[in-house]
Amino acid sequence: MRKKLIAANWKMNGGLEVNRALVEAVCQGGSDLSSEVVLCVPFPYLGQVGALLQGSTITLGAQNSSEFESGAYTGEVSAGMVAEFGCSHVILGHSERRTLFGESDGQVAGKVLQALAAGLRPIVCTGECEAARLEGRTTQVVSRQLAAVLEAVPDDACAAMVVAYEPIWAIGTGLSASPEQAQAVHRQIRALLKDRFGAAAELVQILYGGSVKAANASALFAMPDIDGGLIGGASLLADDFLAICAAGDLVT
Ligand code: PGA
Repeated sequence: MRKKLIAANWKMNGGLEVNRALVEAVCQGGSDLSSEVVLCVPFPYLGQVGALLQGSTITLGAQNSSEFESGAYTGEVSAGMVAEFGCSHVILGHSERRTLFGESDGQVAGKVLQALAAGLRPIVCTGECEAARLEGRTTQVVSRQLAAVLEAVPDDACAAMVVAYEPIWAIGTGLSASPEQAQAVHRQIRALLKDRFGAAAELVQILYGGSVKAANASALFAMPDIDGGLIGGASLLADDFLAICAAGDLVT
């Protein structure tokens, strides 16, 4: 049985004061959740948020890490560094990294390998742009993005992996995919995972992301292959985020 996973993606938001208030409120309101909850915060706040999460079942995550292990890569942050700060998960290949910073499928695969080697659980992001959806190329795009990772990872990677489906047209737009639209892609992702890992693929959490809100979370999370959410905007407001976590619990 897969547990629901609700991952907050703060993106480039936060500050020492607002972080404290947000994390304290989430910890307080989320103390008896049965879903897994992870807060993926900007690098400079890993120490602060990690300390605030001490004693909580909510875990810490990062939003990126390098495809290189260490060395002369100015400005990069390694998976080992992220792990040293106590992170359980790292978001990799988010569409904003792919489109704004030119991350290729191959780079994302390299990042996933480094994250796995550091003992992190990568949240591998996939998703098509609006034009691809309209042209009927959703399956092709998501398969290509995922194949690059699945070809690179070792056979025993399955237990650590999380996959996210985030249609770009749904991110930050208020226009979520319908539960049926999302489920269709999640089922396809599960099939690709089964081709690579066999029966163990049944245990991989596949998250939906893109305008998840309290109002649509329950319907999305009730679909058979939607195992939780990757939450952007709504993760910055404690009440909204907690309501989404509670929706995860309802269908767990
Ligand atoms: P959103 O972002 O919830 O604000 O749409 C999701 C994401 O980009 O991970």
